[in-house]
Amino acid sequence: MRTLPQRFVEARTLTVQLAAPLSAEDQTLQSMPDASPTRWHLAHTTWFFATFLLEPYDPGFAWPDPRYRELFNSYYEGVGPQFSRARRGLLSRPGVAEILAWRRAVDEAVVACFGRADPALRALLAPIIELGIQHEQQHQELLLTDIKHALFQNPLQPAYRDDLGDIVPAPTAPSPGDETPSLNLAGGRVTVGAAGGEFHFDNERPEHPHWLHPFRVAAAPVSNGRYREFIEDGGYLRPDLWLSDGWAACREQAWSAPLYWIDGAHAFTLRGVQRLDPQAPVCHLSFFEADAFARWAGARLPTEFEWEHFACLHGHEAAAGTLLDDGALHPLAGEASGLRGLWGGAWEWTASDYAPYPRFRPLPGALGEYNGKFMSGARVLRGGSCVTSHSHLRWTYRNFFAPEKRWQFSGIRLAMDA
Ligand SMILES: [Fe+2]
Repeated sequence: MRTLPQRFVEARTLTVQLAAPLSAEDQTLQSMPDASPTRWHLAHTTWFFATFLLEPYDPGFAWPDPRYRELFNSYYEGVGPQFSRARRGLLSRPGVAEILAWRRAVDEAVVACFGRADPALRALLAPIIELGIQHEQQHQELLLTDIKHALFQNPLQPAYRDDLGDIVPAPTAPSPGDETPSLNLAGGRVTVGAAGGEFHFDNERPEHPHWLHPFRVAAAPVSNGRYREFIEDGGYLRPDLWLSDGWAACREQAWSAPLYWIDGAHAFTLRGVQRLDPQAPVCHLSFFEADAFARWAGARLPTEFEWEHFACLHGHEAAAGTLLDDGALHPLAGEASGLRGLWGGAWEWTASDYAPYPRFRPLPGALGEYNGKFMSGARVLRGGSCVTSHSHLRWTYRNFFAPEKRWQFSGIRLAMDA
């Protein structure tokens, strides 16, 4: 069992390792307001520990420059003003070397502060360090999804890692129209949400009862091959398959395939352009595309409560999909049969709005802004992706994005009424 300071150092080290294949020029790129430069992720995750732990609890703490407080504040109004999110790519100073030196100083200060704290202070610091580790892991995933989007803008199609070799597609392609097996669930009164014990975000609490009608859930996520059938059947041309807002987004943004698909046979990945594996999970879809596909397939998306109940009952039987720990950096086909990919591979869009659970209470103070204030207009995704760390996931985990966003590793698992 690793101690909290050990897990802290591991998490902080991994972020630096993920940035290491990127040049200082790469680390400055910002391709859109949603995506941040690598160097900003390195600095902001450091800002988190400086702001919420060192400034209040370490008498010897000082900012390298007091303006960092604003420069690397993401969205915490309770902390103070923030530098414009859309203009983060303009921050060429502090340089990468300065940011890395600041990271090392903050890491040492956090470990020292925790080490000399008496039991009462440790009880205050431990939850902040734990939250900071979880926050660091979220930004590790964003660092990779954001640099993927940035590198994709370059006609040279540069790889984040070109030393991993080509992705080898699974040997046999599924036949067209192959039905994925599904599991039947009785539903009824079930319990969802986090009870306590191990770490959970505030948005996973409280545990509460929920009523489910009988339903079925697919044993595997939707594959590239199956999604290509949707495209070839005119899925992007048929308004009857789409929600009104989805059809508007599809027309405005001229969607005709998942983000990063190049020609129907290849896609841009963190490992450069690769052949599409028909059996691997489809990813980089908006909620609207996932929803339209489900309607085309005569099914629907699961609610987040169906997903969680299904995962809690059957998750132990599931072969994990690709995770960050595997180092593949792309969803792979994995097992050919059985229950697949509940963890990892691609996040799975659910039909559920991102809303507070009954009697939800955000964390006190500025950290209460972490999750609660985003409960408007987003949809919930479950299960993790190929760039999520295994230690970051649990069945009650609620990820959320606006329904038109496609740059995350986001895919589909189908459900239907039973
Ligand atoms: Fe953050």
